[in-house]
Amino acid sequence: MAKLIDGKLISSQIKDELKNKIENEGISATLAVIQVGNDPASTVYVGNKKKACEYIGIGSKSFELGDNTTEDELLALIDRLNDDEMINGILVQLPLPSHIDEKKIINRISPLKDVDGFHPWSVGNLCIGQEGFVSCTPAGIIELLKRSDIKIEGKECVVIGRSNIVGKPMALLLLANNGTVTVCHSKTKNLKDICKRADILVAAVGKPKMINSEYIKEGATVIDVGIHRMDDGKLCGDVDFDDVSPHAGAITPVPGGVGPMTIAMLMVNCVQAATRKER
Ligand code: GUN
Repeated sequence: MAKLIDGKLISSQIKDELKNKIENEGISATLAVIQVGNDPASTVYVGNKKKACEYIGIGSKSFELGDNTTEDELLALIDRLNDDEMINGILVQLPLPSHIDEKKIINRISPLKDVDGFHPWSVGNLCIGQEGFVSCTPAGIIELLKRSDIKIEGKECVVIGRSNIVGKPMALLLLANNGTVTVCHSKTKNLKDICKRADILVAAVGKPKMINSEYIKEGATVIDVGIHRMDDGKLCGDVDFDDVSPHAGAITPVPGGVGPMTIAMLMVNCVQAATRKER
């Protein structure tokens, strides 16, 4: 049976480390959290982010904007927050309403306050191995692997999914850690065969329980990025946990695996934003 990678526990440890660091070093940090509209899932995510800030001792400033907010109004708010010395990090919860161009909004956030790591500067820095903010979910997965003593160097790593938020930065991070990386997507042929080569498999497919034991090499580490609500109200991931776990060496559960790590790494980025020397 696979070892369970407990993201809830590891994320709590990271938050406690940050809480101590903030207290001991007298760090003052404030995160601006912007939500446009009232998508229920976004409201839950934003609420959890604000709660984590409060727990570790980071200030959070909420901007809850109506659905009819214009792109120009949102850009003006970002400009104001970019110039506000009291604000260290800016987070615009995605998705945005369809009349707002997400790319334009992300590009307007100062790279020095880009705690989501979505700005092209942040992504470019990650790509060439320079310091910068890293997208929270993939950064959290690296932290899960490191804190579970799972070595990346020299391993066959397969990432299913090529989104800007997860798949692409995940591949870059695994590569930076000396993994041998393959990125698969909806047009990939022989997906099962490729996945079966993986020592570390990261599933960010967006399809409930799609990855079953036929995709898994015996003893592989399986990281499940998906989260879906089933008809019975229970949550599941992209991985069929019950089918896969007898074959995996280690596996993340859903919930309680990758999810809590995203918020913990956002907190890491906020502390980094508040303590960065070069301006
Ligand atoms: N929507 C889903 N995930 C994320 C995230 O990590 N950051 C932001 N800003 N929006 C999201």
